[in-house]
Amino acid sequence: MIDLTGKTAIVTGAARGLGFAIASKLASLNAHVVITDVNEEGASSAVDDIINHGFNAEYMLADVSDYNSADSLVEKVVKKHGRLDILVNNAGINLDSMLHKLEPDNWQKVIDVNLTGVYNMMKPAAIHMRQEESGRIINISSLSWLGNVGQANYAAAKAGVVGLTKTASKELGKKNVTVNAICPGFIDTDMTRGVPDHVWDLMVSKISMGKAGKPEDVANCIAFLASEQAGYITGEVINVGGGMIL
Ligand code: CAA
Repeated sequence: MIDLTGKTAIVTGAARGLGFAIASKLASLNAHVVITDVNEEGASSAVDDIINHGFNAEYMLADVSDYNSADSLVEKVVKKHGRLDILVNNAGINLDSMLHKLEPDNWQKVIDVNLTGVYNMMKPAAIHMRQEESGRIINISSLSWLGNVGQANYAAAKAGVVGLTKTASKELGKKNVTVNAICPGFIDTDMTRGVPDHVWDLMVSKISMGKAGKPEDVANCIAFLASEQAGYITGEVINVGGGMIL
C-alpha cells in the first residue's frame, strides 16, 4: 500500500484535467497537496472537491512561466509546511499548428510554460531537497516528444523536459532525490478533446489498447513514483500510453 502521510506535494496546473487527477490521487494517499495554477476559480473548486472527499489540499496561485512567481511559491510552501517532499510538474499548454504556419509567439508561449516552467519550479525545489537529502520530482513530458504532426513547439518543449529530467537525476541522485519523467500518450482530457475528429480517430488508431487513456491511469503511475517503494528509480522516462506508438 502506498501511504504518503506527512508528505507535502506541489502539483502544478492542477485546477483541472490531468493535474487535478494527480492532485486527487496524491491527496487520497494522505499527502497534503498544494494545487498550483493561474486559474483561481478552478483551483479553488479543485480544493473543495478534494476536501469534500475527506482529504487535504489547498491552492496557491502561481505562474510557472515566471521565475519569481515559481520561486516564491516554493518558498511559501516550505515556509508554511516546513517541507516539500514531492513536486509534480504538470502545467502545460498546447498551441498546435503545422510548422509552416507556427507563429513565433505561439512557439515561445509553449516553450515558456512547458519547458522553462519546469526549470523554474525545479531549481528552487532542488535547493530545498538537496538540503533535506530527500525528495521526489516527477515531470510530465509527453509521448509527443518523439515527434507529433502539428506539435513542433510542444514536442520540442517535452523533449527538453526529458533532457532536464535526466540531467537533474544525475545531479541529485547522491542527495537521495529522485527525478523521473512520465510520458502520457493520448489521454482523454480537455486538451485532447480539442483535436479535430479525424485526428482523434488517427491518434486512437496508433494505440495498441484501442482507446484513449484516463487521467487516473497517469495519476496511478505518479503515485507509485512518489512513494517510498520507488526510492531506487531515477532518471527514467516512463510511458503511460496504452502501447501508443507515434
Ligand atoms: N498524423 C498524420 N497526418 C496528420 C496528422 C497526424 N497526427 N494530423 C494531421 N495530419 C494531416 C491531415 O490529415 C492533413 O492531411 P491532408 O493535407 O492530406 O488532408 C494535413 O496533415 C494537415 O492537417 P489539417 O488539415 O488538420 O491542417 P490544419 O492546418 O487545419 O490544422 C493542426 C493543423 C492544428 C495541427 C490540426 O491538424 C491538429 O489540431 N492536429 C492535432 C495535433 C495533435 O495531435 N495534438 C495533440 C493534442 S493532445 C496533447 O498534446 C497531449 C499530449 O501530450 C499528446
